[in-house]
Amino acid sequence: SPSRPRAIRGPAISFSGSPFLAPAEACFVHHPDALILIEGGRIAAFGPYDPARVPAGVVPVHYEAALIAPGFVDAHVHYPQVGMIGAYGEQLLAWLDRYTFPAELAFADPAHAQAAAALFFREILAAGTTSAAVYCTVHPHSVEAFFAESERFNTRMVAGKVLMDRHAPEALRDDAERGYAESLALIRRWHGRGRQHYAVTPRFAPSCTEAQLDAAGALLREHHNLFLQTHLAENPAEVAWVRDLFPARSSYLDVYAHAGLVGRRSVFGHAIHVEEADFCTCHAAGAALAHCPTSNLFLGSGLFRLFDALDPRRPVRVGLGTDVGAGTSLSPLRTLGEAYKVAALRGTALDALKGFYLATLGGAEALHLEDRIGRLAPGHDADLCVLDLAATPLLAHRTARCESIEEVLFVLMTLGDERAVRATWVAGECVYDAARTPDPFRY
Ligand code: GUN
Ligand code: ZN
Repeated sequence: SPSRPRAIRGPAISFSGSPFLAPAEACFVHHPDALILIEGGRIAAFGPYDPARVPAGVVPVHYEAALIAPGFVDAHVHYPQVGMIGAYGEQLLAWLDRYTFPAELAFADPAHAQAAAALFFREILAAGTTSAAVYCTVHPHSVEAFFAESERFNTRMVAGKVLMDRHAPEALRDDAERGYAESLALIRRWHGRGRQHYAVTPRFAPSCTEAQLDAAGALLREHHNLFLQTHLAENPAEVAWVRDLFPARSSYLDVYAHAGLVGRRSVFGHAIHVEEADFCTCHAAGAALAHCPTSNLFLGSGLFRLFDALDPRRPVRVGLGTDVGAGTSLSPLRTLGEAYKVAALRGTALDALKGFYLATLGGAEALHLEDRIGRLAPGHDADLCVLDLAATPLLAHRTARCESIEEVLFVLMTLGDERAVRATWVAGECVYDAARTPDPFRY
């Protein structure tokens, strides 16, 4: 049962703040031999291993040659796109028409949605991701299938029905009123039920009329703590199209701001082709950006200005997004490896502490869920992943030569992927154990 006390022992890391804003000593902890006590699905204690602190009758699960980290947070991903990841040859707008919309049309069948949701959860948990901000399709039952699967694993998830009422195939369009009503029914059913949260999800400005964006704004005003997720300034042709569609707005972000969509718990995917004023707007509003490096490279969208977004004078909340299926992997480790390369192309360097922060507490902060997830700390949900430093012969060989925790983390960022995830815990239960046979998943 979730209230049974548990204990985990092994090397562990966590953040208490942003290494973009504070020196590592002030925001990063590494215990070479840690004890994590869990009660009622939450972390009750986290500190150096001390046998006297293990409750009577509890035998710690001991992970050796491992590194325990907070579960990863994927700040931007499309579960319906798991079936079309790796679609050849196009940039954003043609890629949507040629591959994405056809894939999402298949979700008219609830059984298809259910199967995709089941596969998606297995894949993200095997990659060490325990929370995500997720786009479903326009079909309400795609949200139903998603949250039902999330509830089985008891994951904390943010998701919503895509709103789109133009520039898409007829069978994928709603309208402002219907999108509002369908979202409202899903909010009433799922928002705040267990660990599930609802995100109002207008796809992006080109696929939403002004009436639909206004309806999304009304939903946000009428309900407490809803999320808002959409795409922003991903591709130059898209940005030019938005300028044509909304000539009265001062920027792409202003289209959303005008409809009341820029606030706390708003998460904008990509945000590559933006101006300083847009970063300022997001900072002031507490809105977040999702950095999606594998997607931005795959679609040739551009290079996110991570260090400009995180400028300490007006830091914007930034999470790491896989953005599958434009993204090419559900693994946050692999995504961090690409984030490093994107930073390098911009003449900057993303060190491992900053990288692991983005994939954990940074993502939690992007979603304003930092009081619940993203950290190993008393009171936080016991969501964690256990990384295997010897997952492959190369990783074992390389990590054996590391001289610091920073170096181990950087090697994991560079060489790591889902093979480096030994186990994933959600709300105090081990839901994935790579060594468990015949099925590594709990459900
Ligand atoms: N912009 C609008 N829809 C999408 C999508 O599904 N993926 C990406 N990467 N960008 C988008
Ligand atoms: Zn996306």
